[in-house]
Amino acid sequence: MSEQLKNTEYGLEKIFEGAEDFLPLLGTDYVELYVGNAKQAAHFYKTAFGFQSLAYSGLETGVRDKASYVLQQDKIRLVLTTPLTPENKINDHIVKHGDGVKIVALWVDDARSAFEETTKRGAKPYMEPTVEKDEHGEVVKAGIYTYGETVHLFVERKNYNGIFLPGYQAWESDYNPEPVGLKFIDHMVGNVGWNEMNTWVKWYEDVMGFMNFLSFDDKQIHTEYSALMSKVMANGNGRVKFPINEPAEGKKKSQIEEYLDFNGGPGVQHIAVATNDILSTVTEMRKRGVEFLSTPPTAYYESIPDRLKEFQHEMKEDLNQLQKLGIMIDADEDGYLLQIFTKPVQDRPTLFFEVIQRMGAKGFGAGNFKALFESIEREQAKRGTL
Ligand code: FE2
Repeated sequence: MSEQLKNTEYGLEKIFEGAEDFLPLLGTDYVELYVGNAKQAAHFYKTAFGFQSLAYSGLETGVRDKASYVLQQDKIRLVLTTPLTPENKINDHIVKHGDGVKIVALWVDDARSAFEETTKRGAKPYMEPTVEKDEHGEVVKAGIYTYGETVHLFVERKNYNGIFLPGYQAWESDYNPEPVGLKFIDHMVGNVGWNEMNTWVKWYEDVMGFMNFLSFDDKQIHTEYSALMSKVMANGNGRVKFPINEPAEGKKKSQIEEYLDFNGGPGVQHIAVATNDILSTVTEMRKRGVEFLSTPPTAYYESIPDRLKEFQHEMKEDLNQLQKLGIMIDADEDGYLLQIFTKPVQDRPTLFFEVIQRMGAKGFGAGNFKALFESIEREQAKRGTL
């Protein structure tokens, strides 16, 4: 634990010293999923996750080959895209990977510079800087590939005041379930192949100017059966955090291997979304049918008072209620955090969500890894993939 904390301090100091940042990021702009049926997926994210209808593009707006639904909840924007014709290349992506994240769009002040700075450092281009216009102004987009077939799209929107992007219309819906309190994307985790973690750590350092501010090896992240390794990459201002996982040898199959098998290679494993009130958010999500990983055993909750001694006086949440909802707790030197993980949100055991509430803590719940992974292994055993 002390080693991690030292790393945290070192990393954050370096980040906040503000060494020259050749890729200033204002935050995450949106996350786009390619899915088999965007209309139904949009209904799910509205109903179960409390997203609001924001914008739409498709046949009715003059787009002939794909339909996209844009959903919003506070600062989080999800785009759900499906192909409309057999020829559309998005079909190939869905055949190979199933429903999942294609684009992690990053909000920048200068998309041309973002493209130039990253491609000259070795990024593989996805989209040359492209200007899109409508009556609300113009947006500059440019993109590069990261791990697998995942893309980082740079979005410059300072000269645009439309609802989302040119080509989209406001989506007025009669069906508007209440938000559940999700606020912003805290981090997004990528799974990469055997021995590829350090390659991608170096890629984020060299190409994107990110820094490695936390590391976990397989001695820290393991259960009786399986193991993984993880390094957390963060951009210069710390707003964008991308942990990267790779599988490690264990007695049985790691959850990362299971992901790689079903995703057909590397990709986004989970999207962590922040809330200010995890008790009400999770209560509401459970009511609306979101499936979470099984609750840690009672022994886990019995050990909390001891593990969180330092922060116990600050904790407003009732342990019994946390246990009832299956919410996990961890602490580092800066505070504590509360977190819970959904089951995969599609049939393939690939993408899932994390709901997180940070009460000062800057870590990722290392103290929960064992209980969490045991819970995932119970699901893997049911799927015959452990
Ligand atoms: Fe996470």
